Amino acid sequence: MNCTTLRFVGRRAGQIASRSLGRAWASSLDSKSVAAFTELEHRNWQKAVSAYDKGFGALTRQCIPELLKAVQCGTGSQLLDVATGPGFVAEAAAKAGASVVAVDFSRKMLDLATQRLAGHDVKLLEADAASLPFEQESFDSVACSFGVLHLPVPEDFFAESLRILKPGGRLGFTVWAATPATEAMALVHEAVQLHGNPNVPLPDAPPFFRFADVDDTTSTLQSVGFAAVECKLIPMVWEFQDAADAFIAFRDGTGRTAALLAGQTSEQLKAIEEHITRGTEAKRTGPEGICRFQMPCVLTMAKKALV
Ligand SMILES: C[S@@+](CC[C@H](N)C(=O)[O-])C[C@H]1O[C@@H](n2cnc3c(N)ncnc32)[C@H](O)[C@@H]1O
Repeated sequence: MNCTTLRFVGRRAGQIASRSLGRAWASSLDSKSVAAFTELEHRNWQKAVSAYDKGFGALTRQCIPELLKAVQCGTGSQLLDVATGPGFVAEAAAKAGASVVAVDFSRKMLDLATQRLAGHDVKLLEADAASLPFEQESFDSVACSFGVLHLPVPEDFFAESLRILKPGGRLGFTVWAATPATEAMALVHEAVQLHGNPNVPLPDAPPFFRFADVDDTTSTLQSVGFAAVECKLIPMVWEFQDAADAFIAFRDGTGRTAALLAGQTSEQLKAIEEHITRGTEAKRTGPEGICRFQMPCVLTMAKKALV
């Protein structure tokens, strides 16, 4: 699917992010907000390690083959995996024969990645995506799987990626497609709207679905200096045997969604949990009786020019 098709899908799906909203956020986040959002994300990811691995691992792994293909990862290529989390992309890239470095700002995520990557030739480092500790032109490719939507100033990460990529190198990243296409996200939003407080005070941050918007993604990457931006919608499916696990994954295994849920009263949270569990149960289908959500993501690829 090319960018034109994706834009059409996004509009039909009633995307939350818009070009103007995204650009306004990018230019208006002051240093205090950046620090507050970074602190919230860091605190929650430090706590989320095992719930994220268990709850989201089988889902986010589904697009890794497309992500690695987009950045032309292969034998002998040098790949940086940013926001590696439990190390899923780093593991797949190492298995594909690449020489891999992986970074994350959560020490606890890196501890889990270290276990997963034992036996693989992968270097793991604690680092913020906005300030990558590498020389310029060090990598053939930079991959970031579901990390960009957690950054207060994604432009800083894009600029760092451009700096450390070799000429002709490629950046690839994935983010969630906007609601309602991402059905489980839509269910959480519905549950909070119906039973809780959607306006829990949280630090200012870019819109969660900002880079599901092809226009914003393309213009942002071009303004940083990338060329040949391409976006693609990738279908993915989130499966649960026990419907109660969907709520647990969101409550314990996320960044700002966990903060939104933590800001509810205990009565509100109970009602939200019941709504999400009922909604998940309603998705039970097929002969094996598994609950299934459509959870597409948007894969973006951009190139650093040769000269
Ligand atoms: C949704 S998880 C993605 C993990 C993994 N890449 C995957 O695809 O499943 C987001 C990860 O981004 C990391 N992260 C968030 N903000 C970061 C930042 N500013 N710098 C580096 N890592 C960050 C978190 O610690 C977490 O491990």
